[in-house]
Amino acid sequence: MFGPSTRGVTAALSILAITTTVVVSAECTREGLLAAANSYIAAQTSGSIDGLKLSATNFTYQLNNKVADIKTGVLSQPLKIDLNRSTADTVACASYTMLISASGSKPYVISTQIRHPDNDTGTISLIDTVAATTGALFFNAPKTLGYIQKENWGTLEEGQRVDRQELKRVGDAYLDMWTDAKAADSIPWGTDCERVEGSQLTRPCGATLPRGGSQRPNGNRRYVIDETVGSVDVLCSFDSLGNMPDSHEVRVEGGKVKYVHTVTVLQ
Ligand SMILES: *[C@@H]1O[C@H](CO)[C@@H](O)[C@H](O)[C@H]1NC(C)=O
Ligand SMILES: *[C@@H]1O[C@H](CO)[C@@H](O)[C@H](O)[C@H]1NC(C)=O
Ligand SMILES: *[C@@H]1O[C@H](CO)[C@@H](O)[C@H](O)[C@H]1NC(C)=O
Repeated sequence: MFGPSTRGVTAALSILAITTTVVVSAECTREGLLAAANSYIAAQTSGSIDGLKLSATNFTYQLNNKVADIKTGVLSQPLKIDLNRSTADTVACASYTMLISASGSKPYVISTQIRHPDNDTGTISLIDTVAATTGALFFNAPKTLGYIQKENWGTLEEGQRVDRQELKRVGDAYLDMWTDAKAADSIPWGTDCERVEGSQLTRPCGATLPRGGSQRPNGNRRYVIDETVGSVDVLCSFDSLGNMPDSHEVRVEGGKVKYVHTVTVLQ
């Protein structure tokens, strides 16, 4: 059983394993991230997770900021997807996907971040979802769909992009507005920007902003940043107004905020 030939095969397999590890950890590609995001969209469409390459050793499913069973969460029910859009963060090796299901039997607006271990987009280590349905803040999926369908999330020309530090700064400043009276004025508001909170539209988005007042910062922030479309998505616990699972996504065009989307679950 432990004869020379078995040992030879074991050694060969170890070398293969080492080689494979080196190859997959080389770089995290945009194509790989978007392929994984598309496999997630397909899973949500069918209600089957069979096509997801979940890590066998380190996989977590998080639903509304709590560890959950992927087999009983929202991903296990088929949804009619009316809108999907994904962004890719090759530095964090993570993607962000927004899904709107407005015309199916149960409406949803879903924000999901997917993370991969060791830059290996062929393996998923975390699916982190904030899922809003009837009862969530300003929830009305057809109305949200109507606003978001009209937006342009096209790839930005090089000259219209800001770097990831600035995108993270803007995302953080946005979430700090409830605790820091100076945060609102540190954000470069575009004059024609639009804010869609649940299904509530505010235009221009820099009108009526919070200026401090809460003692509790919005915590547990998780970021997906894509410079090519000027997007930062932050999943967080919206603690400044209560412990609410939340997604804030901001698009920055030419240095100015163009769109803000929020998905907030009341619980
Ligand atoms: C996702 O959106 C793209 C276009 O933005 C569309 O071509 C594709 O069919 C959509 N996927 C699903 C499952 O609806
Ligand atoms: C992942 O890729 C990034 C950027 O290419 C690199 O800085 C980082 O070291 C890589 N991480 C791993 C674990 O390979
Ligand atoms: C498991 O994956 C998470 C990301 O989902 C990562 O932060 C953590 O370091 C991983 N743990 C191990 C032991 O690899």
